[in-house]
Amino acid sequence: MPDAKCPISTDVSHAARILRAGGLVAFGTETVYGLGANALDEHAVARIYEAKNRPHFDPLIVHIADTGWLDRLAEKLSPAAQSLANTFWPGPLTMVLPKKNIVPDLVTSGLPSVAIRIPSHPLALELLQQFDLPIAAPSANPFGQISPTTAQHVLDNLGHRIDLILDSGPCDVGVESTVVLMTDDRPQILRHGGITQEQLESVVGPVDVHLGNEAEASSVGSSACSTKELHAGVAAPGMLSQHYSPTTPLMLAGDVDTGLISNKRVGLLQFSETHTAARHIADFASVEILTADGNLRLAAASFFAALRRLDAEGLDLILAEPFPDHGLGRALNDRLNRACH
Ligand code: TXA
Ligand code: MG
Repeated sequence: MPDAKCPISTDVSHAARILRAGGLVAFGTETVYGLGANALDEHAVARIYEAKNRPHFDPLIVHIADTGWLDRLAEKLSPAAQSLANTFWPGPLTMVLPKKNIVPDLVTSGLPSVAIRIPSHPLALELLQQFDLPIAAPSANPFGQISPTTAQHVLDNLGHRIDLILDSGPCDVGVESTVVLMTDDRPQILRHGGITQEQLESVVGPVDVHLGNEAEASSVGSSACSTKELHAGVAAPGMLSQHYSPTTPLMLAGDVDTGLISNKRVGLLQFSETHTAARHIADFASVEILTADGNLRLAAASFFAALRRLDAEGLDLILAEPFPDHGLGRALNDRLNRACH
């Protein structure tokens, strides 16, 4: 019998009931759709890893409705963490904090820290309030694939493996939260995302950036890699060199020898109408232009959906134009670089 797909609904109480029963509910946040389960129930959390086919070394973000749960999950916030929480929560910021025992090891992959965020999407907040417990939720995509920004994306990729999708409409921000390690003296960005480095620095001064490089990432990919090695080598264990990947090969526009692709069906992911593409637009089998005028916010909001549309075209190759390397452009370039293969 083929696996049935789960329902899509806007019934928050029903979604909360499923979570209480140990089920899996995908729900929209302002960044991307998350695949949620009761963060304090190890069996429910185990189902997240299984549904996503996610390696257990990659820890999950714990979502809460307000700072009420914070004291129970993590040690007291440093002054810097407090300022970031005051400024950016609810919103696309995740802080990695020293954890308390109540957080199951499966959620943190055995790390002594827990990643926490308060999302700003009203339906996500309503779900958290009604459920009244923290929700562990990675992005609701199979491991390594393109993140979902609509309920339909989740249905297409995981509909047969989960219990319900709470339809919260298309995600406004469109890229995941910024992950910041707050366990050392100086904040460290582990993943660029919806809150920019510039925004963080305007509140807490200079921050370090530790995204995990190729060498670190390939050590994560090795099955012999232990959690302890991970801790020493890679700041955010999920930052693998290949991630967010379409099934179609993707390359950066500047990296391609145009002679090699002359007989191929090539798609173009272009940042802005005002940018000059690698080749004449008419040479491409399919083109997605993210913005008319180069607004990074709009580009981020449509980025993953545009990548999915190109991926569905049966192309030989997708060429993508890099983004300006500031603000949200850093998060987008990071996603692009990891999507290349
Ligand atoms: O916007 C988002 O953050 C979305 C929505 C659903 O909230 N969630 C999301 O989760 O992107 P996920 O699992 O796809 O990415 C979580 C990232 C991974 O890179 C993971 O390694 C890192 O956060 N992370 C989680 N816990 C951590 C910890 N204790 N220490 C370091 N990195 C951690
Ligand atoms: Mg993800």
